[in-house]
Amino acid sequence: LPSHYTLPSGDQIPSVALGVWQAGKGEVGSAVKTALKAGYRHIDGAWIYRNEAEVGDALKESAIPREDLWLTSKLWNTFHAPEDIEPTLDETLSMLGTDYLDLYLIHWPIAFKKEGSNVLDKDLTADPYPTWKKLEEMVDKGKVKNIGISKSYQTCHCRIQNLTANPLKYKPAVNQVELNFWNPQPELLQWSKENGLLLEAYSPLGSNKQVGESLSVPEVKDIACKLGITPAQVIISWHVQRGTIVLPKSVTASRIVENYDVFEIPQDLFERLEAAATAHTPQRVVNPSRGWGLPFDVFDD
Ligand code: A2P
Repeated sequence: LPSHYTLPSGDQIPSVALGVWQAGKGEVGSAVKTALKAGYRHIDGAWIYRNEAEVGDALKESAIPREDLWLTSKLWNTFHAPEDIEPTLDETLSMLGTDYLDLYLIHWPIAFKKEGSNVLDKDLTADPYPTWKKLEEMVDKGKVKNIGISKSYQTCHCRIQNLTANPLKYKPAVNQVELNFWNPQPELLQWSKENGLLLEAYSPLGSNKQVGESLSVPEVKDIACKLGITPAQVIISWHVQRGTIVLPKSVTASRIVENYDVFEIPQDLFERLEAAATAHTPQRVVNPSRGWGLPFDVFDD
């Protein structure tokens, strides 16, 4: 299975990352240290996870050369206005203790006003181009190597097309979306491959809500048994074999080590798992629309 994928910039992005969403203060640092010792070189974080400083301390302590690491962060919804982007990016860079990110994503395809709590900025939500142009400027300044989008565009591709209809200097390098056994999105995967857009799978195990169910899927257990690997390794391997980046989150040392080992699944077994994942009605595991009090579902185009 591929250990890296090549982005349009020519950069090589490692296929397995440690995801640090929901990795709390006091535990994320040791998770990152364990991961780096196990061989991970890709950490997928975000400003809103509120743990970038602790991640940064762990990176520093590891003494791994910066050029060997792949660091991703994400632009929070309240900072989409062009004038707010560089300050929040600088804050992320300073917390991580680096002077550039390998990848910076627009965290959600919606913008909030800076004041107030989760008040929609309708203009910047409808038209992400001003935000994108500023991100392109950050690439030109060397503060970011690649830029991408995240958490959207799942039911149709109008929003991607809305952005890419503009004269972009840099096209989105990746699209980070929920992908797991419950929400495998085969059409989006196919469309993305055809359009040269690499997907990154977040909540690949079904997040804390559904990881138990994911690991108990009969096909997953059966393949694990046949290959002599764990159910989590089956699922993580399946993601890479589908051609996506995978971002499993764990703060448990043994699981972090386990999750880094991916194995090629024989084609007939891979197809069985793919068929099982796509046979049921898809169900999104994570959706904050209601929690944010939005008058619409953020995943609807
Ligand atoms: P923990 O962090 O306590 O180890 P996802 O990557 O889909 O978001 O899933 C994250 C959830 O899955 C967390 O609750 C994490 O628990 C759990 N998890 C991660 N890796 C494993 C594993 N190898 N076996 C069992 N549970 C795991």
